[in-house]
Amino acid sequence: MRSYSIQVANWRDYAQLTLLERACFPPEDLWPFWDLIGTLTLPDMVRLKAVVGVQMVGFIGGQRDENRGVGWVTTLGVLPEHRRRGIALTLLEHCEQDLNLPIIRLSVRASNRPAICLYERQGYTIINRWEKYYVGGEDALVLEKQR
Ligand SMILES: CC(C)(COP(=O)(O)OP(=O)(O)OC[C@H]1O[C@@H](n2cnc3c(N)ncnc32)[C@H](O)[C@@H]1OP(=O)(O)O)[C@@H](O)C(=O)NCCC(=O)NCCS
Repeated sequence: MRSYSIQVANWRDYAQLTLLERACFPPEDLWPFWDLIGTLTLPDMVRLKAVVGVQMVGFIGGQRDENRGVGWVTTLGVLPEHRRRGIALTLLEHCEQDLNLPIIRLSVRASNRPAICLYERQGYTIINRWEKYYVGGEDALVLEKQR
């Protein structure tokens, strides 16, 4: 049985989301205040958290581009001490369902093997490379899944 639950996040989760982002991403990849608030409040976005007790241990964000029939996974993170329990996989499955579009895409640092392994396991394939996309000059890989 799962020891965590998946819940819809909202603006009250801002403080916990900030802590989670800091635990998951290097300083140069942290989102500014308005991006985090936007993810937690804007309409037509998916925001799901994995919760143990009252603690947010994982988060995923998704954005719809209805015109193109594409959903984008915008962020995904799981606290280090809760990794390798399938939490990211579960968040990703729920996010894909909630985006409910035929194509799901995301971008990831080319060196981020754990995330790329996760996405490939979930059926994503590399469709593009954005050169020097990230702060520091690292390329992004763009991955896609057709549902
Ligand atoms: C990437 C990340 C979200 C994975 O979270 P997680 O909850 O540990 O992932 P899961 O337990 O659901 O892993 C599912 C599968 O993904 C793959 N995977 C996950 N982490 C991996 C790792 N470190 N190395 C290799 N494969 C990995 C495995 O196939 C794993 O299945 P297994 O545990 O049965 O081998 C987490 O490591 C993280 O938060 N990293 C920092 C933030 C980040 O890079 N986010 C992605 C940005 S695009």
